[in-house]
Amino acid sequence: MEVTNVTEYQAIAKEKLPKMVYDYYASGAEDQWTLEENRNAFSRILFRPRILIDVSKIDMTTTILGFKVSMPILIAPTAMQKMAHPDGEYATARAASAAGTIMTLSSWATSSVEEVASTGPGIRFFQLYVYKDRNVVAQLVRRAERAGFKAIALTVDTPRLGRREADIKNRFTLPPFLTLKNFEGLDLGKMDEANDSGLASYVAGQIDRTLSWKDVKWLQTITTMPILVKGVITAEDTRLAIQAGAAGIIVSNHGARQLDYVPATISALEEVVKAAQGRVPVFLDGGVRRGTDVFKALALGASGIFIGRPVVFSLAAEGETGVRKVLQMLREEFELTMALSGCTSLKEITRDHIVTEWDAPR
Ligand code: FNR
Repeated sequence: MEVTNVTEYQAIAKEKLPKMVYDYYASGAEDQWTLEENRNAFSRILFRPRILIDVSKIDMTTTILGFKVSMPILIAPTAMQKMAHPDGEYATARAASAAGTIMTLSSWATSSVEEVASTGPGIRFFQLYVYKDRNVVAQLVRRAERAGFKAIALTVDTPRLGRREADIKNRFTLPPFLTLKNFEGLDLGKMDEANDSGLASYVAGQIDRTLSWKDVKWLQTITTMPILVKGVITAEDTRLAIQAGAAGIIVSNHGARQLDYVPATISALEEVVKAAQGRVPVFLDGGVRRGTDVFKALALGASGIFIGRPVVFSLAAEGETGVRKVLQMLREEFELTMALSGCTSLKEITRDHIVTEWDAPR
């Protein structure tokens, strides 16, 4: 049967993938309260559409850190995409550039920065996990820069891995025929099996728990790429991120895979946008599955959104074709939402086009 929305790919992926892989992609942390809330919170935001506006031409283009994109729908970093499909990150990179948008490559990709660059032109960001060994980090950042990546998304919500119980039950580990390609030559590309989650053990062994604001400044001494701080959900940290030199902020709860019972990202967005005071762009990821979700995020002040799971699920179902289709469906839904709300360009999307449960009655 024809796939008509992004969410439908999840069930197809579940059928196709080994349980260990599907569970790793799908799961959230602990009670998975935030996982549900990331979706539910969108459904509590309603539209205030404007009518009788000429919507015969809709412009969804925008610039992200100065780079022109066809739409404000970008690809979040998700690890180990070759578990979903043999083409893995190559397919995602090609689909993103065909759609005229940006892919963020995970540190823990199963394809290296050089390999992804070799797929052809495209605007790409590199997601960074900071390892205890700072030489490893410096080398990797240099390689990403040389491979033409345009920005760093520094993930700041993962000093330890969240407790994902499915991964513990499944003894999740990277299948032995794959490696974390960026780390292959550094002897950090393999993941051992553990008595619980192999990934949690890997993180405990390699990732630097001491990471702090001064390191955001340190990162700026080793690269000229702009830094997006990924994983901010409070006003306090927004101000600190800007002070530390962030070029932008990604409001993210890591797809509800880290601390459970943090609010949905769409609920935290406005607080961050207000604290940023327009000094840097604010982005959002978490639970975006519809064009209406994209519109709601922009109405609350986001400059763009990133999608995570829809990419790995569509990749599992149909490879590059699937990822292309996800981007196309979200584009069309977003365009339709703009038309039905009376907006012909992104700057016409305003806070008055939505109403939230925390708004005062009019
Ligand atoms: C992630 N995410 C993630 N984030 C990151 O900074 N580095 C990474 O390697 C990964 N890997 C990863 C794997 C998988 C399977 C998922 C589902 C998520 C988090 C990701 O970038 C993003 O924040 C969320 O996926 C957004 O939420 P949705 O769109 O999945 O609901």
